[in-house]
Amino acid sequence: MTVQGSHGSRLRATTTIALLALLGAGSAAVAQQGQLTGDAARGQRYFTDGYKCYACHGYDAVSGARRLLPMNYTQDGFITFVQNSPLPQMPAYNDMPAQALADVYAYIRSMPATAVEVENIPLLNEILDRKLDALGD
Ligand code: HEC
Repeated sequence: MTVQGSHGSRLRATTTIALLALLGAGSAAVAQQGQLTGDAARGQRYFTDGYKCYACHGYDAVSGARRLLPMNYTQDGFITFVQNSPLPQMPAYNDMPAQALADVYAYIRSMPATAVEVENIPLLNEILDRKLDALGD
């Protein structure tokens, strides 16, 4: 009886430890993705060479199929999107490591977003003003 009792508690202890290890591993994996630090120079090599994102997005990340700047994704969102792209024309890079994507993210963000803010297009503003004036009458 004493033997069985101690066996039972050892089993419980083992289970508890296994569970804690599992929980620890899970939260570590999640935390790790958020803490990844991208290296823009490495990211450039992935973008233009290793994973060839440029082929569809342009070397400048804005002249291709879909402009990537200004970047509206968080790093985590970006990694998740590229690894799991549900879009028909964008392949899912499901075996591309999160670190490589953090590097590409850093590279894209290091490029100038050449998008012009609407407020800074004089002719467009003139037209909008005239429209608003006409509506005001
Ligand atoms: C075969 C062409 C192709 C390649 C290669 C490609 N993409 Fe794309 N990507 C697309 C297209 C097309 C879209 C827009 C799809 C849509 O809206 O239906 C897109 C969308 C995206 C978006 C979402 C943009 C948004 O506005 O939400 C991101 C981020 C992105 N790509 C990153 C990458 C990265 C990083 C790589 C390289 C690892 C890459 N893409 C390689 C074609 C490509």
